[in-house]
Amino acid sequence: MASYMIRGGNRLVGDVTISGSKNAALGIIAASMLLDGPCKIDHAPNVDDINMLVEICRSMGAQIRREADGALEIDPRFVTNGETIDERSRNIRGSYYLLGAMLGRFSYASIYMPGGCNFGPRPIDLHVKGFEALGATTVFEHGRITVSAEKMHGEHIFLDTVSVGATINIMIAAAKTEGVTVIENAAREPHIVDVANFLNTMGANIRGAGTDVIRVTGVPVLPGNVSYSIIPDQIEAGTYMLAAALTRGDVTVRNIIPKHMEPLSAKLEEMGACVVSGDDSIRVFIPEDTVLQATSFRTMPYPGFPTDLQPQTTVLLCTAQGNSRMTENVWDNRFQYIDDLKIMGANILISGRLALVEGGNPLTGAKVFARDLRAGAAMVLAGLVAEGTTEVNDVSKIERGYESFVRKLQDLGADITRIDS
Ligand code: EPZ
Repeated sequence: MASYMIRGGNRLVGDVTISGSKNAALGIIAASMLLDGPCKIDHAPNVDDINMLVEICRSMGAQIRREADGALEIDPRFVTNGETIDERSRNIRGSYYLLGAMLGRFSYASIYMPGGCNFGPRPIDLHVKGFEALGATTVFEHGRITVSAEKMHGEHIFLDTVSVGATINIMIAAAKTEGVTVIENAAREPHIVDVANFLNTMGANIRGAGTDVIRVTGVPVLPGNVSYSIIPDQIEAGTYMLAAALTRGDVTVRNIIPKHMEPLSAKLEEMGACVVSGDDSIRVFIPEDTVLQATSFRTMPYPGFPTDLQPQTTVLLCTAQGNSRMTENVWDNRFQYIDDLKIMGANILISGRLALVEGGNPLTGAKVFARDLRAGAAMVLAGLVAEGTTEVNDVSKIERGYESFVRKLQDLGADITRIDS
């Protein structure tokens, strides 16, 4: 189990370049399995979740090569059926997109139930509802899910809850399904637009991604044979913006889409930070003599405040002046890291989905754990400002989603080392 040793107290200063979006890449790589020809995907982040999905696709017969510049050359033509027997699909959430892709291509898909970060129940009933509306039947058996259809057809689908995964999965399944599929109450996250743009570049006809109504007109062939560049990772960018504010540093986060960062930028400014947006960058620093002030936020589907930045933002609230309120509206149980933060000296009271954060208590180094990907990033941020040394254990969870995390932080001046044990 690898760990990070962090000696707190260094200001982060300099530039950091953001990698491609992990959650967009998961959808896009799975969606590429639907194509009738090869494609090239630029800016696929080199992180464990993506590498695992690539391995799963290879085990299905796809030919995938990572080039020196990080781009993925994918040829899905050697995938001959929708049976995914690789057990690694249990380890990541994004494997569920193979269901949509294989169903759309072979009218049959079967995989082990997807895994991923643990923050309470993670049902896939909305994915299933969508597939069944398109003509499929579903069987759950021996830890596997199998969806199959005699004949798929476009349909009108209303999602009861706004779901990123279900929106992407249904969009993928519908891309080659005859007729028109309309997804209502669709999620609007940037990576949904990115998966739709990818599929359209490959020959699909998807309109409305980024709004709550997406219209997919099925096409018989998705020729591929083109390159596509994945958008920057909004959550990675937000993590460095928060690290800059937290350490009272001065960091320019490059290769980002500032519009995607607005919910966080607005909160940081409200607290007293300076946030300067460029065309594809944001600089974050704290003016001299400014003490960051407490604030309140609630996580919501895009364009609301992203749940995937909730733990990292809570760390900042611990250091602000005054008491803050934070409400987690997306996941039932995304507060597990709070016990670790308390070990470091934070004072946080939880009541259901609400956390009351008392600001101004100095954090001190301790031995803590990465409970999940973003919780792990939050513990690293806490370590950057804690007095003394913080040991963050089980960092493989962090490395599922942050490319070169240690190197990028070191380049900004952090005292952080990875220890293999
Ligand atoms: C995606 O998960 C992301 N994962 C998560 O990021 C992110 O936290 C989440 O969206 C919300 O933004 C990937 O993209 C791989 P949802 P997903 O379906 O698609 C309920 C990270 O840190 N729901 O939008 O699984 C569900 O219980 C990860 O990078 C149903 O009820 O999330 C939740 O309350 C962690 N039935 C809400 O919807 C369903 O069938 C939103 O979930 C599906 C979801």
